[in-house]
Amino acid sequence: MIRLAVFASGTGSNFQSIVENQISYKVVVLISDKINSYVIERAKKLNIPYAVFNPRDYDSKDNYELEILKTLLVHEVNYIALAGYMRLIGNILLNNYKDKIINIHPSLLPAFKGKDAIRQAVDYGVKVMGVTIHYVDFGIDTGNIIAQEAFAIKNNMTITEIEKKIHQIEHKLYPKILNNL
Ligand code: GAR
Repeated sequence: MIRLAVFASGTGSNFQSIVENQISYKVVVLISDKINSYVIERAKKLNIPYAVFNPRDYDSKDNYELEILKTLLVHEVNYIALAGYMRLIGNILLNNYKDKIINIHPSLLPAFKGKDAIRQAVDYGVKVMGVTIHYVDFGIDTGNIIAQEAFAIKNNMTITEIEKKIHQIEHKLYPKILNNL
């Protein structure tokens, strides 16, 4: 059985769908870097153990990740799913979880890497958008692609409607991929 840690910084709608659709993996802990993130409320309601690490409390990225690593080892985590974790993964976690860290990104990579991908794509005026699930490596949104799902932008679609569509796709696709690991 895959013992999954989910990393999230924000609202956590993907975290929730990953928990609610677990079949061949088990979410054993939520890791957040933001004490006030709504994802923590979701973890409480869903009865998932959680831990918050504020990067500012550590003098280096290595020390920050070493603390996270201790928690992952306590929970016997063997896979990590990033779900809106807005921080680059560093050496410590990459070396300890080689090819075991997966990310979801709201664009058709390699287009629109990094932050605000949906806004970047809308500003560019693309007619097709989508979601990418990929392995995490040392780059920003550069690891091997596992799955992508695209959709056409209809005329006059607002950014809110586009975001809603992206989330609908993410909430189905991410658990499906994780269940098939
Ligand atoms: C998701 O759309 C995810 O693809 C994106 O953050 C959102 C988190 O939503 N991730 C990135 O942009 C990573 N570069 P959620 O907190 O409701 O799951």
